[in-house]
Amino acid sequence: MLRIVVCVSGGGTNLQAILDAMDSGLITNTEIIAVISNNAGAKALDRARARNIPAILMSPKAYPDREAFNEAFTARMCELAPDLVVLAGFLVKIPVQMVERFGGRIINIHPSLIPSFCGVGYYGLKVHEKVLERGVKITGATVHFINEEMDEGPIIAQKAVTVEEGDTPELLQRRVMEQAEWILLPKAIDDIANGRIKVKDGKVYGCL
Ligand code: GRF
Repeated sequence: MLRIVVCVSGGGTNLQAILDAMDSGLITNTEIIAVISNNAGAKALDRARARNIPAILMSPKAYPDREAFNEAFTARMCELAPDLVVLAGFLVKIPVQMVERFGGRIINIHPSLIPSFCGVGYYGLKVHEKVLERGVKITGATVHFINEEMDEGPIIAQKAVTVEEGDTPELLQRRVMEQAEWILLPKAIDDIANGRIKVKDGKVYGCL
């Protein structure tokens, strides 16, 4: 059984996609042991509570400085001792000490085709604003292992989504979620839970 902690900051639609996939059997051999958010008002925490999953608030605002938060966040994650950490719309930089302890066992969903439109400042709606500004015709989402850099690490899977005439950032975000994120993330979790993913020399195999 793959024990996972899901980290969230906002609406939690990716968390919901994971919960729904567990209900439907698209994800097997997996248990969500906790959901952690930096945002007390995150709807994602309500989604966890509705399923009696421990909903934990870990906000940098509750600590004297970022280093103190990083230590506390990492210590809490070590106590939970998940097999996999899933970043699902989580807007806090993962502490380097957490990457060191859980390296290769932290995955993230990003709403673009990495290496395009990613890195510092590219999150949520901002990604789709930049996609529309640049006029690209194809965007999508990427699920990847993380490393100490923002939106880097071995890519597990990607899914393309067409940009349509008249798209607004909101319309495009919704389409990327529906057609890519909510499919990619559950499948990656199921592949990891069932041993179908192998990472060698920084490249991922077995998850197409
Ligand atoms: C989504 O666009 C996701 O790609 C990004 O955060 C946004 C919010 O996701 N990482 P959610 O609805 O909170 O899952």
